[in-house]
Order: sequence, then structure tokens, then C-alpha cells
Amino acid sequence: MSARKLTAKITGVGKALPEKRLTNFDLAKMVDTSDEWITKRVGIRERRIAAPGEYTSHLAIRAAADALKMSGLTADQIDLILVGTSTPDMIYPSVSCLVQKELGAVHAGVLDISAACSGFVYGASLAWGMIKAGLMKNVLVIGAEVNSSILNWKDRDTCILFGDGAGAAVFSAHDSDSDGVLAIALGGDGNCTDLLNLPNSGCRVFPDEPGRYIKMQGNEVFKQAVRNMAECALCVLARAGLTSQDVSLLIAHQANIRIIDAVAKRLELPKEKTFVNIADYGNTSAATIPIALCEALEQGRINKGDVIVIDAFGAGLTWGAMALRWA
Ligand code: UT7
Repeated sequence: MSARKLTAKITGVGKALPEKRLTNFDLAKMVDTSDEWITKRVGIRERRIAAPGEYTSHLAIRAAADALKMSGLTADQIDLILVGTSTPDMIYPSVSCLVQKELGAVHAGVLDISAACSGFVYGASLAWGMIKAGLMKNVLVIGAEVNSSILNWKDRDTCILFGDGAGAAVFSAHDSDSDGVLAIALGGDGNCTDLLNLPNSGCRVFPDEPGRYIKMQGNEVFKQAVRNMAECALCVLARAGLTSQDVSLLIAHQANIRIIDAVAKRLELPKEKTFVNIADYGNTSAATIPIALCEALEQGRINKGDVIVIDAFGAGLTWGAMALRWA
């Protein structure tokens, strides 16, 4: 028998969604679209929209508080807070800093991660690395977004796709030779910056762009998402010494039901082994995976010993996957 190794396991999860629901029917009154088109082409029925004055940090704090409660830890036991977000309240102080203050996580380092929709998986990977190296014991990883603040509500190509929300997970040190986090794989492609971007969101001014709105070449992003998410999932499974036959549940980024189906097909996974909640929340960017993870647990879809693959893709381009055996 091999020696027990230091790894990480998830000890708590949480989620936070704004109250307000924006349905496809509501959107059809705002732009030239229909419930039928959105449901069929994307799989979304409604999304949540933050109230005026409800910011990314507020959602992040709620999700984090629930994750912390479930973990049974006290806030002062958290060593690091990582927040994946593209819609921080402001560039600095970071959202993670605002979360630290509210939770009273007085011993935690704080860092926001800019990896668009892949932010949670990048954060989870960093958490695993710090814990595996023996440098930290408990890392709080959050994905949180108020995408409604960066949508052009006159652009039907993008405004129908996104929603607001947050999800969180506590990663804790775990001694095991067989379960907890098994492997990670991260990737990116800086040659594709034009496919999906947020002009006027930093020091560069885009004189030809009307504002600070998500811009996307949907078709091309779709193809890149399917290819890279499938390859990344296979890569992480190979690193863990597993195949897709071993997977109990794929929790993929919720951008389009057709992307999730196509990735599952490439992995030869039956539909019942994918988790899908895009109908309720749309694409909440960095928050889709931790929200889905939380709901999969609530619904009893994850049991001890199950192999879970989380698989993300976003602007950059960025992508990343993590394989875990639930401990
Ligand atoms: O989270 C980051 C990663 N993001 C993604 O992975 C998103 C990837 N892309 C997608 O999910 C899809 O490309 C979209 C949902 C954005 C678009 O779906 P599509 O099947 O690629 O549609 P399309 O852009 O090829 O457009 C098909 C038709 C066009 O009409 P014609 O030219 O066939 O007459 C569009 O004008 O659908 C039309 N269309 C719409 N119709 C009603 C495009 N958007 C809409 C709309 N409502 N909102």
C-alpha cells in the first residue's frame, strides 16, 4: 500500500443568488429574441439579477459564510481567501479583502483572480497547491459575479446569456492516498483575446466601443469551449490515473447546454453524469461551478468515493479542470 499523502478535500460549500429573476419572456420585451430561441439554443429559462446596491462582494460574503458554516471551521482558521471574479466591486481593495473583513478571517491572505469564467477552478488549483505543499491548511475559494453590470441590454447576442451569483468552497488539508483532490490541469491561449473580451474595463481606452460591455464571437467561442474543455477533462483524468468510465459526475461551466452536451459526448459520458442548472441561472461566469457543486451536494448527486470532475472555460482564453474523489 502506498504512503498517505497530503492533499486537500472540500469541507464546505455555499451559494448566493440575488432575489430578482429575469425570464426569457422579460428579455423578449427588451430585445429581438424569444423564449423558444434561448431555451433551444442555450438552455436558459431565467437568470438572477442583483438589486441596485447589491455588489459582487455581498454575494461572495453570503456564499462564503455558508461554506464556512458547513466546514465547521471558524473564520480565523482560514489561511487564504481567493475570489475569481471579472466584476469586482472595484479593482482594489479586492473582493477577497472585503470578504475577509465581513467574515473576520483575521489570519487570511487575500487575492482576487482574473481568469474570467475559469476563475474558480484556477483558485481551487492554487488552494490545492498551497495545501499540498504544506504551506496552508484551509483555503476559501469563491466565484462571484454581478455580470448584469457589464451587459449591453440592447445586444441580444450577449444580454440573454449571463446572470449574477456566487458560490464558494472551503478546501482543507487531508491525509489520504486515494481521495480528495487527485489532479489539476490548467490552460490558456493568449492568441484568442479578440473572441471574448471586456473593452474599457482597464487603463486602455477603446474609442470605437460604446461602453464597458462583454463582447463575444459566440460561434468561435463555442468551438473553442467544446474542444478545450473536453481535452482538459481528459488530461486531468489521465493525470489522476483514471478514465471517463470512472467519472460519477461532470460539473462543467454552465455557458450553453449544447456545450455541456458536446463535452459529455466527447468524454463518452451519459447525460445523467453531467450536472446542469443553466436553466435557472444562466452563465454566472466564475460562479457557475461552485453554485453547481453546491446544488449537486444539496440534491444528493455526490456521495463519498465518487469521482467528480470540474471543468471550466472562459475569456483569455482560459480553461482548467480538477478531478476529485469525494472524501
Ligand atoms: O462563459 C464564457 C464562454 N461563453 C461561451 O462559451 C458561449 C459560447 N457561444 C454560445 O453559446 C453560442 O454561440 C451563442 C448562444 C452565443 C449563440 O448561439 P449560436 O447557435 O452560435 O447562434 P448564432 O450566433 O450562430 O446565430 C444563429 C441565428 C442567427 O440568425 P440567422 O443569421 O441564422 O438568421 C442569429 O442572428 O440566431 C440569431 N440569434 C438570435 N435569435 C434570437 C442570435 N442571437 C439571438 C437571440 N435571439 N438572442
